[in-house]
Amino acid sequence: MISLIGLPGSGKSTVGRQLARRLQIPFYDSDRLIEERLGCSISEFFEREGEQRFRDIEAQVIDELTQQPQGVISTGGGAVMRGENRDHLHQRTRVVYLNSAPDELFRRLRHDKNRPLLQVPDPLARLRDLHCQRHPLYLETAHFSVDTGRPSVGKLVNMILMQIECDGQAASAGNPLNSST
Ligand code: S3P
Repeated sequence: MISLIGLPGSGKSTVGRQLARRLQIPFYDSDRLIEERLGCSISEFFEREGEQRFRDIEAQVIDELTQQPQGVISTGGGAVMRGENRDHLHQRTRVVYLNSAPDELFRRLRHDKNRPLLQVPDPLARLRDLHCQRHPLYLETAHFSVDTGRPSVGKLVNMILMQIECDGQAASAGNPLNSST
């Protein structure tokens, strides 16, 4: 399993879908699955039940998805806030952090009304806060990171595929640091 983490707007769903297509494995978008389960949008649910109830359901869905035999999971940007999600993602999947600058995300999400956390008077300041708060958690959870600044989606997918292939080769060759010779 491969999972993608990063702030809202970093491209987790778009990159995840293409990555899964290239690898010919299933694609799971955790936010879409949560919405199917809730029978309403995440924004509506946030308003009605609050963020903590959403986080409980998100944790259940991540627990289930990370136990699938194969696939690519795109997670919601706040999934790393809970330790149990960080553990499940890190231990059960290869985690890729799509690292984006808050200014870049702001340009992409300026007109987006579907992200409840960004419906505030100063969304750029909010994105900067979220980045400060979460960047260390994304780094801690990820096996590797890619910067989303310049490359196209296709290039990002190639970079991730190369990294995964290198990981696979390193694993099958054994880790030289563990060798006793
Ligand atoms: C959230 C990000 C959203 C969604 C929810 C909470 C967050 O997903 O899970 O609105 O806390 O950053 P995206 O990262 O796909 O926007």
